[in-house]
Amino acid sequence: MINPKTAFMVPYRISKPYSLRSFLLIVLIIGIFLHIRSYLFQVLSSEAAYISNTVKASHPIEKLILQNYRKQQSFLNRQSKSPEEAIKAYKKRYQRDPPPGFSKWVRYALAHNSTVIDDYDMIEERIAPFRSISSFDLTRRMKAWQESADAFETVKIRDGKFVDCGEQFKNSIEDIVDQLPDMDILLNWLDEPRIVGYDNLRDSNKVTMEDFASKDAWEILSGKCQFSSQKKAKRGAAAKVEYVEDPREALDICSHPEAWNQHGFFNSPSNFRATRNVIPFFSTTSMSTMADLLTPGLDYVDWHYIGDAKTVDTTNYTDKKPQMYWKGWSTGSWFKETSWKRNHRVRFVEKFRSHPMFNIGFSKYVQCDGYCEKLEELVGLVPIDPPTTGFEYKFAMDLDGNGYSGRYYRLLLSNCLVFKQTMFEQWHDDRLMPWVHYIPVSLGMEELESAVDYFAHDVKGLGYGEQIAMAGQEWARKTLRPIDMTIYTYRLLLEYAALFEGGADRRQD
Ligand SMILES: *[C@@H]1O[C@H](CO)[C@@H](O)[C@H](O)[C@H]1NC(C)=O
Ligand SMILES: *[C@@H]1O[C@H](CO)[C@@H](O)[C@H](O)[C@H]1NC(C)=O
Repeated sequence: MINPKTAFMVPYRISKPYSLRSFLLIVLIIGIFLHIRSYLFQVLSSEAAYISNTVKASHPIEKLILQNYRKQQSFLNRQSKSPEEAIKAYKKRYQRDPPPGFSKWVRYALAHNSTVIDDYDMIEERIAPFRSISSFDLTRRMKAWQESADAFETVKIRDGKFVDCGEQFKNSIEDIVDQLPDMDILLNWLDEPRIVGYDNLRDSNKVTMEDFASKDAWEILSGKCQFSSQKKAKRGAAAKVEYVEDPREALDICSHPEAWNQHGFFNSPSNFRATRNVIPFFSTTSMSTMADLLTPGLDYVDWHYIGDAKTVDTTNYTDKKPQMYWKGWSTGSWFKETSWKRNHRVRFVEKFRSHPMFNIGFSKYVQCDGYCEKLEELVGLVPIDPPTTGFEYKFAMDLDGNGYSGRYYRLLLSNCLVFKQTMFEQWHDDRLMPWVHYIPVSLGMEELESAVDYFAHDVKGLGYGEQIAMAGQEWARKTLRPIDMTIYTYRLLLEYAALFEGGADRRQD
């Protein structure tokens, strides 16, 4: 054992002969340091508050919040204000002319106060693989799909009118259908993606469907990936706290070989009827390695999901309990004895259901024939709460079910801070900013406890939590309106129609 007294004395004795000179030198250094610091402080405090905060950011979460806040400011500032600006921005971004009808689209978007005019990379990413396929071949592929697939509809637009169209989709674009060129749209009825589509060389006259219900779908979903040994090594070291910096990376299958046994859709989906053929096909959700074209999930704005006047959140953030809330059904997999622990919802509930900062659980077991009682015994059962109970808590978890979670917009529109975990890509992915509008959560959830702790207990975290909850609500009100979905779909359909030859007459500006 070191004697604290002697341990202290040794350096003291050595430094003694130099004491006066050293003392003066130290005073001088401290003086210079304080002078520079106060100068810097003056400079910085004259900048926007968040910049001076960057210098002082001490917690890794605070750094992420401030970084993304700046990204959000530049996102807002760069949006075009006129068709001329938007065309210029489009050409710069994609190195080509925008599709016919684009100027009219910009005028429509501006007239409806669309906050987003230029940032539609989700459309570009999804359309791009089809640009290298001829119009003739695309049509042939669609015909092959129509002849052998099920659970979809063909929407036909002719002379600015619907020929065939289901109600929901029709309502969403009725306002602009007269601006659209003739086209046929294959629309998915299922809320799961369908087009794995990595086999460009397949016979385009024939579609082969494969059914992965309750089977392992990882091989087909990760078939494109080249998992490096480095990535595999990361799998072993999964216990480290790493906050999600980029949600697009978090749902990238090829970056996450470990995801296979963490999400039910990968190891035992309840329903997944997919094809490896490349088909231009519209779904409300897809995965990083898949090729569905993305339309907005229209059930998001259905009152069943979004709630009505009786289910509006009236509890101020500061008055909410500092806990995470989630209650739901055991969807996300077809449960089997061997796979139940590999379902994302089960993993979440099992990991945190006894944690004092979490009020979570399953209120109903489904998709588990012959196994539900066992699951209930293993993972517990909670009573069904009224829809507003969640508003008593500061933190709202939102995670995938069989497909994407339909509660997301309702939670964003509440006064709660939304924590979001997903492996599904959606139309809104490039307009929701992580750490500004919501908190992204990794599939591994290693960081979730410390993130909740930060927003529940850290003095700054408490303030940031309220800021993000309110910013998410305001942003959802501005950019996730039904009209925003119409504006997105309008632009998507112009890009889509431009893949085909002919029918250009109505597309003139
Ligand atoms: C757009 O915003 C302006 C100004 O706030 C408002 O007067 C107008 O009614 C809005 N238009 C639409 C279509 O929401
Ligand atoms: C919540 O309460 C705080 C403090 O009383 C107040 O500053 C804030 O504006 C309130 N927020 C809302 C959304 O009412």
